[in-house]
Parts: sequence; structure tokens; C-alpha cells
Amino acid sequence: MKFTQSAVLAFAATAVAAPSATTKDEPRQAASGCSSAVTLDPSSNPFKKYTLHPNKFYRDEVTAAVAQLSDSSLAAAAAKVADVGSFLWIDTIANIAKIEPALADVPCTNILGLVIYDLPGRDCAAKASNGELKVGEISRYKSEYIDPIVTLLKAHPNTAFALVIEPDSLPNLVTNSDKDTCKNSAAGYRDGVAYAIKNLNLPNVIMYLDAGHGGWLGWDANLKPGAQELAKAFKAGGSPKQLRGIATNTAGWNAWDLSPGEFSTASDAKYNKCQNEKIYVDTFAPELKSAGMPNHAIVDTGRNAKTGLRAEWGDWCNVNGAGFGVRPTSSTGDELADAFVWIKPGGESDGTSDSSATRYDSFCGKDDAFKPAPEAGTWNQAYFEMLLQNAVPSF
Ligand code: GLC
Repeated sequence: MKFTQSAVLAFAATAVAAPSATTKDEPRQAASGCSSAVTLDPSSNPFKKYTLHPNKFYRDEVTAAVAQLSDSSLAAAAAKVADVGSFLWIDTIANIAKIEPALADVPCTNILGLVIYDLPGRDCAAKASNGELKVGEISRYKSEYIDPIVTLLKAHPNTAFALVIEPDSLPNLVTNSDKDTCKNSAAGYRDGVAYAIKNLNLPNVIMYLDAGHGGWLGWDANLKPGAQELAKAFKAGGSPKQLRGIATNTAGWNAWDLSPGEFSTASDAKYNKCQNEKIYVDTFAPELKSAGMPNHAIVDTGRNAKTGLRAEWGDWCNVNGAGFGVRPTSSTGDELADAFVWIKPGGESDGTSDSSATRYDSFCGKDDAFKPAPEAGTWNQAYFEMLLQNAVPSF
């Protein structure tokens, strides 16, 4: 994944089995899902009714990590991370196979979070998360990736799903359109995102389109083009009613409401009002609205406990010194922010620090990046332990 240079502004800092009206009061089922079809009302906050599910795959990663800890108090703290709700990344066609097993233990009170992340020419402005589909393979994206996911979600009408749609893709088209890779990916991103949201528009699904973060689309010159790019995709997807807004800070590091913001003394700060994610959510919302798009938000707080770690706002790779942030909750204190959620599974790498690897991105070699780090998406035990030790609130 990643947030790289804003091309729009040369000076810009840089930029990843129970009833349908289910409520928390209704009986929890031993088996998965509710006893009848779930209908998510897109005009209300789904996270008020449903808790983000601690999915089995992250739980398994954390359990394996705990087994490696000899310090018993650290191990006890680490074990608690397994109970935190987080999103499951469907980052390849093969990983669609994770959805069924992840569904096995979702109670009716929970919502299963999935990240849709396999566009052709993925991660066009960086290398770390380049994906399996090449530019031009949009028909494979549709028929081999989105269609089977749609089939699965339809086959499980009694389970609630929250989807984050394609992190970094549209934001990259806004700020990195000078790069050939992003130019080449643009048509596929637009077509792919529209297809995804049109077809995943199911009653048991709520969708949030990725909108980067305050240090990316929050620049004065990026707010309007950003809102327009997202709204264009929304309309191209037939204005799907189950799309409730945006996901911000995905795999990111920005504090929610730190004031003054972390980069507010930078020389270019005057060009960005969105110095924390709260201001970004509140400032981007009217732009989205006027562009014709729903504007509620979920915000990734998985790794944003510590600030002052990044040399530059756009530094995105395995930031050294980071800590687990606020646990998923719908108590955000902001009408527009549906929930704080964990989107990036803390402990999974952002990208390899091995400079000889094909997907090595120089951001993962920067001074403020933790090293060594394995390939994106794979477990980094030392990094997990650091997140745990720096967690706020602590575990
Ligand atoms: C990165 C990886 C992806 C992984 C995700 C979550 O974006 O490229 O494979 O699933 O992070 O860790």
C-alpha cells in the first residue's frame, strides 16, 4: 500500500442465525450469523448495532505470536489483542477462500470486516503492495475476484459485512497521476471500483470507499478533486445505496484529534487545514456531499497511538516506534465518524526492507522505517511486540 508524493502540489507533503432487525439485545446464536436475513440500513451507523468481528485469521496470527513470548506479562497482554476486531484483507483471488472459514464464528451481534484489495496494477505509486493482476486485467478482476466475492456474500445473507473498498486506489489517481504506473492503472481503477461497489451493493453489506488520509487528500488543492474522483466512481457504480461513505487512515499513522496536529509546524502546513483525521473527516465531508456522495467515515486507529515518529507526513512504511491505537468503537464523538476500526492488522508488514526484493520500495528503507521487515502482509513478530509495548491505551 501506499501514500506517496502529492503531484498536485509540488510543495505538498506526501501523501493507505437471528432476525433481520438485529440488535445487540437479541439472543446470540451459537452458530454463525443471525437466524434470518440481515438488512443494514445505510442511513444509520451500522457500528452502533454491530461490533467489528475479531476475525479468526488475525486471532490465529496473534495466538502464534503469543506462543513466541517468554515474558509472561507481555504474553498475557498480547493474548488480549486476539479479541480486537479487525478487517480481513482479501488481497488475492486465492484469499477469497478465507471468507468461508472467517464466517464460521461470527455471532449475530458482530459485523465481519473485509478489505477488497486486488485491482489491476495495484499500488501504482509504490512497489511494496503491487498485486497479482496486471494493468489491463480488468475482466479477471471482475469475473475471478469481485464476482465470486459477491456470490459468497449473497450466500450468507444472515451475516453483516463491512467492506473497505480498494485502499489507496482513487487517492493515487488524484495525486500521483504524473506517474506512468498510475496513468496506466487509472482506467482499470475507475472501472474496477465502480464494478465492485455496484455488485457488492447487497442488503447485508455496508461499504466505505478508501479516501487516503488528511496528509494526502487533505491538502487544500486535493480536497475538491479528491471528492470529485470518489463521487465519480460512486455514480459510475450506480450510486449504490449501501455505500455509506469513506474509510480513512487505512494502514495509516495519523492521530484522530491531536491539536495542534503532528505536522502543523511544517513549512507547508498552511496549505493543509486537515492536520488531524478528525479535521479531515469533517472538512472532506461537505466536499463529498457537494460532489454527490455519502460522507460518513470509518477511521483506522490500529497503529496510530504514537506521534512524532515520521520524518515526513507521507512516510508510510512500518513506522518505527508505532503503537496500537484505540480499539474499535462507535463512540467517536463525531457524527460523521461511524467508528474507529482496525483496518490494517497490526503486526503485518507494510513492505519489505530487503532492497534486493522485487517489491522493495525505498520508503521501507527510510530512517524512520522499522527494519528488518518482511514482505507486505506477512507477519513481523518484532514489530507486533513493539506495537503492543507502545499501545495507547495499553493492553
Ligand atoms: C498490504 C499487503 C497485503 C496485505 C495488507 C494487510 O497492503 O500488500 O497483501 O493483505 O497489507 O496486511
